[in-house]
Amino acid sequence: MSSNPILAPFPQTRLRRLRRTPALRAMVNETELSAANLIWPVFVTEVDGADVEIPSMPGVVRYTVEGVKAAAERAARLGIPAICVFPHSDEALRTETCERAWDPDNIGNQAIRAIKQVAPDLTVMTDIALDPYNANGHDGLVRGSEILNDETVECLVRMGLAQAEAGADILGPSDMMDGRIGALRAALEKRGHKDVAIMSYAAKFASGFYGPFRDAVGAAGRLVGDKKTYQINPANRQEALRCVARDLAEGADMVMVKPGMPYLDLCREVRDQFHAPTFAYQVSGEYAMIEGAIRQGWLSRDVVLESLLAFRRAGCDGVLTYFAPEVAEALA
Ligand code: PBG
Repeated sequence: MSSNPILAPFPQTRLRRLRRTPALRAMVNETELSAANLIWPVFVTEVDGADVEIPSMPGVVRYTVEGVKAAAERAARLGIPAICVFPHSDEALRTETCERAWDPDNIGNQAIRAIKQVAPDLTVMTDIALDPYNANGHDGLVRGSEILNDETVECLVRMGLAQAEAGADILGPSDMMDGRIGALRAALEKRGHKDVAIMSYAAKFASGFYGPFRDAVGAAGRLVGDKKTYQINPANRQEALRCVARDLAEGADMVMVKPGMPYLDLCREVRDQFHAPTFAYQVSGEYAMIEGAIRQGWLSRDVVLESLLAFRRAGCDGVLTYFAPEVAEALA
């Protein structure tokens, strides 16, 4: 809209005329949110033995493999098209070489197979990064104070191939190493996984809003230093756009902006500039703020739907959100 769309001044134009009744408001409603726009991130653990709640994410649990099967069936029943698996591995088995990340029987791959068994039509997405299996909590291999890039990419490719073999439909590299999308795409083609899609965490910022997630996967206490040498500076919009352009050029099918609500400007810009399917991640800290305030009685539950509608208005095709099942139920 380059010129002012309002032709007539007040009182010829009274914008409140079309807000007067529910029916009028429905007629001019511009944005829809449906269950089809949701991706549900779930935590799966191999240690706790029962479905345990995460203290900094009230209402969110770490599932056992049995528990995640029930969650998958629930997602399918509610019309949620995709579930995204985040492993919580046995801390005693985390190493600096991270070899469990590409073990066909690691907890993440067990979960993928279990979900495909009970809900074969549900899309299963994964996370590719070494942190759930890394002794020091980083997304890449660490040498001294450096997070190694090229050596990490080799590990990520192995990890992604193991996920594809386990039946994943969408791989989600969240590690922010350079060159990982191209390497992964080439490996998938070569190994007969030409139809496995990649949703790149392309514009992923070094954010404090991931705090509760790191509690959920047991990485919080282990993380040495921060992730600023690989995740994007929250001040940098141009750099984020370059990351998106680069990942699409290397073969990403879809891209993601993360975190979500504080970065809606980028959601809009990515959608408009690249014309590719664009997703946002309403991350753990956003969930904690909203759910925490609701539980305190400081906000009403309506803000959940409002927050997700905002992503749609900003141009997102869909949102990864811990509110997915609750919202799908409310929309049904
Ligand atoms: C791991 C990863 C993180 C999240 C998704 N994948 C944490 C991080 O980068 O430290 C965050 C998700 C959330 O906060 O909900 N690479």
